[in-house]
Amino acid sequence: MADTLTITDNRTGKSYEVAVKEGTIRATDLRQIKANDDDFGLMTYDPAFMNTAACRSSITYIDGDKGILEYRGYPIDQLAEKSTYLETAWLLLHGELPTSSELEEWQHTITYHTFINENLKGVLDSFRYNAHPMGMLIAMISALGTFYPEAKNINDPAVRLKQIERLIAKMITIAAFSYRHMVGQFYAYPDNDLSYPGNFLNMMYRMTELKYQPNPTLERALDVLFILHADHEQNCSTNAMRAVGSSEVDPYSAVAAAAAALYGPLHGGANEQVIRMLTEIGSLSHIPEFIKKVKSGEGVRLMGFGHRVYKNYDPRAKIIKQVAYEVFDVTGKSPLLDIALELERIALEDEYFVKRKLYPNVDFYSGLIYQAMQFPMDMFPVLFAIPRVSGWLSQWQEMIEDPDQKIARPRQIYTGSARRDFVPMEKR
Ligand code: CMC
Repeated sequence: MADTLTITDNRTGKSYEVAVKEGTIRATDLRQIKANDDDFGLMTYDPAFMNTAACRSSITYIDGDKGILEYRGYPIDQLAEKSTYLETAWLLLHGELPTSSELEEWQHTITYHTFINENLKGVLDSFRYNAHPMGMLIAMISALGTFYPEAKNINDPAVRLKQIERLIAKMITIAAFSYRHMVGQFYAYPDNDLSYPGNFLNMMYRMTELKYQPNPTLERALDVLFILHADHEQNCSTNAMRAVGSSEVDPYSAVAAAAAALYGPLHGGANEQVIRMLTEIGSLSHIPEFIKKVKSGEGVRLMGFGHRVYKNYDPRAKIIKQVAYEVFDVTGKSPLLDIALELERIALEDEYFVKRKLYPNVDFYSGLIYQAMQFPMDMFPVLFAIPRVSGWLSQWQEMIEDPDQKIARPRQIYTGSARRDFVPMEKR
């Protein structure tokens, strides 16, 4: 049996044989298929990349039907249980788990790069008092790049690594400082004695205490959420990272672009929509009426349900649900939890949802945890962006080292006017 595909062009009667490798054909192999000599050659039309692999990647594996998510082959539930975010970030970047000395050095390096240049505070101060922290974060990432002109040297692995360390380290500082600016509080500096998530909580919430001590359950919960959000293969923001990075721009500019993609409500904003939905439902007695509205096709969706890739329980949602209970033991139960649980129970039994394979996704419970930890809703996409930086940078690095890759430049099907002569103003 040959690993090829035979295509017959019924316009010309000609047959072509193209290679099938790794379950794909090369789109450029179709270019030889021409209706006549002037023809550009056959293209594929695939808006939203529904069936186009834009890269080969060895970082993250998803099987949406089975509900499987793995980073570098390690199942997400094992990483969530046994790893830390920084160890997972190393794994994503380097392909293997670190040895204990590698991990120690990595943690030390990230910890000691958390401080930002004091001039960056001036950039933050120039934002309006109530500016959205995600807007500030995107701008600050871009501003950060202006302090490191050597970052343009993207083909030097040592220079690349230095920027990766800086970006991962400084994300928590920029994120927390953006929050402090929004709420009008002084900037709380990093504390090098604390873990990565602990340090973030310190910069978010420290007030008059000389030493901030994060609650260990909340610190661990945040670390687990960071692990779960670290990468998710070729999603919208990762695609932005790769596309922008393919122009060989510095990684700060590419990460700023990826963060902008994440800001959209269809990507990083769904957990906020879940909280809004649960608040609007308001009580258990209103659930049947709400479900009826969703099922009537009036355009109301059960937020936090359904996924483009997962047609099974999102494996991240399972872990997050467990974390939610641990967090609520410390913070007290969210009044919205009972509504969420009842909605989930009904949806998992209801034919409408079962038939469409709509299961809870990562966002169904994450917003409840963030809210219980006192994060305002505006911070939710920021909390997603912090760990996703390690995924974006892993994918960016893989792209730079991939000889198949070039500047990203899709084709189009031109649907405009045929050639015509310019019309003088008096004749229009
Ligand atoms: N509630 C009710 N019905 C739904 C929902 C939902 N949440 N999601 C999909 N459907 C229905 C949809 O109406 C359609 O029904 P029909 O076949 O009768 O027209 C069917 O299910 C298929 O939906 P689709 O829109 O074709 O599916 P999609 O793969 O294009 O959309 C989605 C995926 C995540 C955008 C969608 O499920 C949705 O809008 N969910 C709610 C928003 C949400 O929770 N987003 C977070 C995604 S996870 C975060 C991340 O990984 O970035």
